[in-house]
This record gives sequence, C-alpha cells and structure tokens, in this order.
Amino acid sequence: MDFTKTQAMLLLLCGITLPFATAGRSFTVDYKNDCFLKDGEPFRYISGSIHYNRVPRVYWKDRLLKMYMAGLNAIQTYIPWNFHEPAPGLYDFKGDRDLVSFLQLCQDLGLLVILRPGPYICGEWDMGGLPSWLLKNKDIVLRSSDPDYIRAVDKWMGKVLPMIKPFLYQNGGPIITVQVENEYGSYFACDYNYLRHLAKLFRSHLGEQVVLFTTDGAGKSFLKCGALEDVYATVDFGPGGNVTAAFEAQRYAEPHGPLVNSEFYTGWLDHWGKPHSVIRTAVVVKSLNEILEMGANVNLYMFIGGTNFAYWNGANTPYFPQPTSYDYDALLTEAGDLTEKYFAVRDVIKMYKKIPDGILPPSTPKFAYGTVEMKKLRTVAESLDILSFSGPVKSLYPLTFDELNQAFGFMLYRTTLPVDCPRPTPLSSPLNGVHDRAYVTIDGVAAGILERDKAISINVTGRAGSSLDVLVENMGRVNFGKHINDFKGLVSNLTLGADTLTNWVVYSLSIDEAVRDGLIWEAGAHQDNDATPSLTPPPAALSQPAFYGGSFQIPDGIPDLPQDTYIHFPNWRKGQVWINGFNLGRFWPSRGPQVTLFVPAHVLSTNSVNNITILELEAAPSPPLPCVVEFTDTPIINATIRPMVPYTRERPNLL
Ligand SMILES: *[C@@H]1O[C@H](CO)[C@@H](O)[C@H](O)[C@H]1NC(C)=O
Ligand SMILES: *[C@@H]1O[C@H](CO)[C@@H](O)[C@H](O)[C@H]1NC(C)=O
Ligand SMILES: *[C@@H]1O[C@H](CO)[C@@H](O)[C@H](O)[C@H]1NC(C)=O
Ligand SMILES: *[C@@H]1O[C@H](CO)[C@@H](O)[C@H](O)[C@H]1NC(C)=O
Ligand SMILES: *[C@@H]1O[C@H](CO)[C@@H](O)[C@H](O)[C@H]1NC(C)=O
Repeated sequence: MDFTKTQAMLLLLCGITLPFATAGRSFTVDYKNDCFLKDGEPFRYISGSIHYNRVPRVYWKDRLLKMYMAGLNAIQTYIPWNFHEPAPGLYDFKGDRDLVSFLQLCQDLGLLVILRPGPYICGEWDMGGLPSWLLKNKDIVLRSSDPDYIRAVDKWMGKVLPMIKPFLYQNGGPIITVQVENEYGSYFACDYNYLRHLAKLFRSHLGEQVVLFTTDGAGKSFLKCGALEDVYATVDFGPGGNVTAAFEAQRYAEPHGPLVNSEFYTGWLDHWGKPHSVIRTAVVVKSLNEILEMGANVNLYMFIGGTNFAYWNGANTPYFPQPTSYDYDALLTEAGDLTEKYFAVRDVIKMYKKIPDGILPPSTPKFAYGTVEMKKLRTVAESLDILSFSGPVKSLYPLTFDELNQAFGFMLYRTTLPVDCPRPTPLSSPLNGVHDRAYVTIDGVAAGILERDKAISINVTGRAGSSLDVLVENMGRVNFGKHINDFKGLVSNLTLGADTLTNWVVYSLSIDEAVRDGLIWEAGAHQDNDATPSLTPPPAALSQPAFYGGSFQIPDGIPDLPQDTYIHFPNWRKGQVWINGFNLGRFWPSRGPQVTLFVPAHVLSTNSVNNITILELEAAPSPPLPCVVEFTDTPIINATIRPMVPYTRERPNLL
C-alpha cells in the first residue's frame, strides 16, 4: 500500500472520503508487450475461483487464506443476481450475501479480485444466476436486447455496480478486471447489441478506466459471438489438451495482449445419476505448468467449489440436475480441506513465483456425532394449512410456480379422478411438462413418480372422484444452453387415459418458512393414513411425501465443539434436509453419486438441542431397518451409480 498518512490527511482536509488509497494505482492491458500492467509494471495473475455464495461466510477467511498461501495473487468470483434480488426491487446483501465484506476481506488478505457480475453466470447455479421472476414475461428472450430483460438488467447493475466501484483497483480496491456476460459465444442469440449495451452500462457505472473482458470456449466458433470490440477477449479450457492450440484461439480474437485462461478446470461438475467427476492431479499439474511457462495468466476453476445449499443447484439438458455438493474435485474439498492436488499445484506455482511465508491453515476438524433417531411428524398432505400461507388457487388447468410467484421448492396440485380406473391406466404428461419431478398419490396412497425427460407416464388405478395429489419438486433450473427459460411445476397438462385432467386446486408451499418457524414440529398432526384402502395395493416401496424430525445434543466435555460434520441417510431415498431451520440441500442417496451432505459447524448449537427436519419424498426407512440419520466425519460424494429402476415397481433398498 502506497497510501501515506499525509495523503490521508490531505484527503480529509479536502473533505474527500475515499475508502482506499488511489494515488498512482492503475491496471491496464499492454498490447505492445502482451501482458497486463499493474501500476505501470508488467503483471501476471495466478488466480483461483471461489464463489462466496457457496461458502458460509464464517469460512470465507479460512478458504481465502488457503488460496493466498498456495501462492495465488488473485481470486475470481461470480455475482449471482438471483442470490441478491429474490423479488424485483428487493435486495439482499446481508450475512452470506454480504458481497462488500467479501471484497473487503480479499483486500485485507492481499488478494486481487477478478469479478464476474454476469448478469448471466452459468456456474451450475440455478438459471445461471438469472432471477426466475424474469419469466413473468413468458416470451422473454433472456441474454438478449429484449427490452424487458434489459430493463431488469439495467436496474440490477445500477444497484450492484456502484457498490463495487470503490473496490476497483484504480480506486484503491482489489478488483483488477470485470467480466461482461459469460461464455456468450456458446449461446444461440448472438446479439452483439446486447453485449455492447452491457459494456457501455458497465463503463457508465465503473468508469472508462476499468478493464472489461469476456470469456469463451477456446475455439473460433465461440469467440465469433462471444468477443466484442474494446472488451478484452479471454478463453477457458481444461487440462490435458494442447495449451498452445487453445491460446491460438484467443489470438484469433486478440492478436496482442496477455494470454488469459479464465477457467482452467481443476475438476469437473457432477449430475445426479452420473458418476462423480475426477480429474487426475498429474494432468492438472502438467497443463498448469505449460500455461505458466508461456507467461500466461490463469484462473483455476474451481480452487474451492463449496456447496449448493438449499435449492441453488442448476441443471443441464436433457434434464440432469447437479447435486448439492459442488466439490468439483477441486484443490480444496467442499469442506475446505487441503488435498494432494492443492500441494501439487502449489509446487508448480512455486517454480514461477515466491510462495508466502507463514502458517497454512489446517483442514477443519470433522466430528462424528453418531446416529439420530428420526420420527415421522406429518405428511405433506396433512400439513397444507401450515405450508400454504396464502391458501390454494383454483384453476381449470395447472398453473406454474412462476404464475404463483414461487421461485423454489415444491407445489402441490390436487384434483380428482374423472373416471373409474379399475385397471392400470396411464397418468401421463404427454408434453413432458413435469418440471421436474412429481410424487403422485391417490386417496392418500403413493402411486408413483413422474420425472422430466425420464418417466412421462405411470399406471394408476382408482375410482371416479378419488383424490389425486401431485407434489411437484423444482429440482433446479437449467443453467446452460438455450433452455434456460425453465418454468417450473406442471408446465403442461396431465392426462389420465384419454382425459385431460382439469379443475385443479394448486397450493404454493412455503416449506422453508414453516420449518424455520417450527410449525412442522408442532405435536398432534400425524395420523397414519398411509393404509387407506384402494383398488390395488400401492407400490410397496413408495409412501406419501412426509416430514420427519429428530434431535441431538452436542456432547459435553469435548473441546472445540461444534465441528463440521457430514449427514448420512442410510436407507432413505430422496428429499430435503434442514438443521435448525438451515436448508442444507437435497439428498438422493438412492441415485447418487452424492451420499452424504456437508454440515458446517455454524448451523449447530451447543446451547440447545439441534433439530433435524427431513422431507422424504419417496420412502423413509421402515422396520426392520432403523429410521435414523448418521453424522459421520467422512464425506461420500462418489458412490457407484445404480441403474434407474421404474418408480412404480417395488425396488430393493439400495443402501
Ligand atoms: C499443439 O498445437 C500447436 C499449434 O496448433 C502445434 O504446432 C503442435 O504441434 C501441437 N502439439 C501437439 C503435441 O499436438
Ligand atoms: C402401463 O400398463 C400397460 C398395460 O399393462 C403397459 O403396457 C405399460 O408398459 C405400463 N406402463 C408403465 C409406465 O408401467
Ligand atoms: C391444457 O389444455 C388446454 C385445452 O387443450 C389448453 O387450453 C391449455 O393451454 C393447456 N394448459 C397447459 C398448462 O398446457
Ligand atoms: C430445537 O427445538 C426445540 C423445541 O422446539 C427448541 O427448544 C430448540 O431451541 C431448538 N433448537 C435450536 C438450535 O433451534
Ligand atoms: C471415493 O473416494 C474415496 C476418497 O477419495 C476413495 O477412497 C474411494 O475409493 C472412492 N470410491 C469410489 C467408488 O470411487
């Protein structure tokens, strides 16, 4: 810092208040010498991605310090719009969303920041960071010059960019470069006017000095629609390929200037139902060495992946949602633990720059709290009075989440069977309009599961007038490609045999609020009506979606508790889990590859009992299996994937 007391005094005397020293600070592109210039000196960054939205705030410092100690001089993060503007004009920058504190922390630790404010971020994040309320205009063309989209973008950027402006390098802060959009060349719209509008908007808020850049796949075809005049074009590519050839793609768009790989993949993402991704350390190390040898700038994506808590995961098409863990096989695990890959990469960096002296923070200890007995509290159907604050809406045809202003979670659709179905009759979504998974019960008995792109029809039986409940789960919005306008709920009609089902009663459900307020735990709700007679016995392996509760105490007399832990779901199938009202995310051990969920210590209490609430959608363990969850000190995110079994037939217990 070249900020002297005298300068501070001068600023004070002149009545100018700037948060940081600015004298002589500049960050620019040197086209003549193919490098960045920081304060006029050649500069190369070695950076790593951390998404503050995927790491609890209490751990920001620990993770950033570990990045700093690996020899990084910069970090890269996205700003997910939907994380900060849950409803139009309603902003949230508190707690885990305190962007300004995150930037300040980077500054305090001596890390520069490469900022990617979107508005679209991809990032395996719900809808690529775009708020789902944009879909109120059903025909909106996202990531284009569509006036409705631009209006919302302008307003959001008008809020967030002024917040980050004081943190620009030239203003005394850590932010050296700012990305415009994200991999726009991979999107069908190819709307240069939109990119131009963003660049102008960013400059109008951040000043003409700011170094703006774009990032695209390392291929001419991507750079064609992704690069823009006066915005520095960079590329992204993973290890194992031809580094020289990859940078040649960047040279197609930027004949001169620094070489930059904005996303060098240290690992890869996962999907439910597909094997866990692993990228070998040796491959990462070899390509990283080649990149650094060329004098290029690099950002390791991810350095730490973290967690998609609550409902924040995205999805790819054909529909495959990403799991709760965003471990990414990165250099630090989801829980921030040091890995063999961390040390190997640090050894490579060491060959090119000095690694800071000082103590490397150790991996945080984990504690196995053991098993906790879980008791059935009530079914979802029994809980509608406490879950549906606004009461149901009647509609001839199904309404979407978006039409009822519900962004995440679950909605219940209720109607009656129009005809007798003594023999198995197809209950179908002919247009594949279940977004994304529907748990069907008839007269209170589980009848099967419909799933987007996987199971568009099940056979059911029942009588005319039987009650039909369809609980629909939003499993995460598509975050990449042309299907990001991802409406949720029943987005088209359901049919029973030849009949279109009509006269729905639709319940928007506020499950998180009900869990937080302890409503689900209130006694006396549950009456076991799973045994209601029907024409044919229900599929033995499914039961009604229901809430389960259990409590545990942090043991006395052991120092330094609570510590982080992992929750394991032996013989549970699929659902959502909260501890003390904190939504840890989705579990789906029956599909994998993720089996345990990360539980950060700060959600646990030593002062009172800790309350676990589970919404199990398919079937909880039933006798003789114990109905328990277990806290362990070891994560499992790489279980073997089992073949998918049709949901209406009995399935063995998979764990
Ligand atoms: C990598 O690509 C460069 C440039 O296209 C080429 O000259 C070189 O032969 C390639 N190396 C290998 C090992 O294929
Ligand atoms: C429904 O039943 C019909 C007739 O028994 C059968 O052909 C079909 O495969 C069944 N569909 C499903 C999804 O089980
Ligand atoms: C359901 O079908 C009706 C009649 O064909 C149609 O008007 C309506 O748009 C459909 N609704 C949905 C959500 O697809
Ligand atoms: C768990 O629930 C009990 C009973 O409602 C309550 O007294 C306790 O404070 C809760 N624990 C936490 C950590 O919120
Ligand atoms: C899962 O990962 C652990 C820890 O890295 C490893 O020991 C184990 O062999 C892996 N299991 C599978 C099925 O790949």
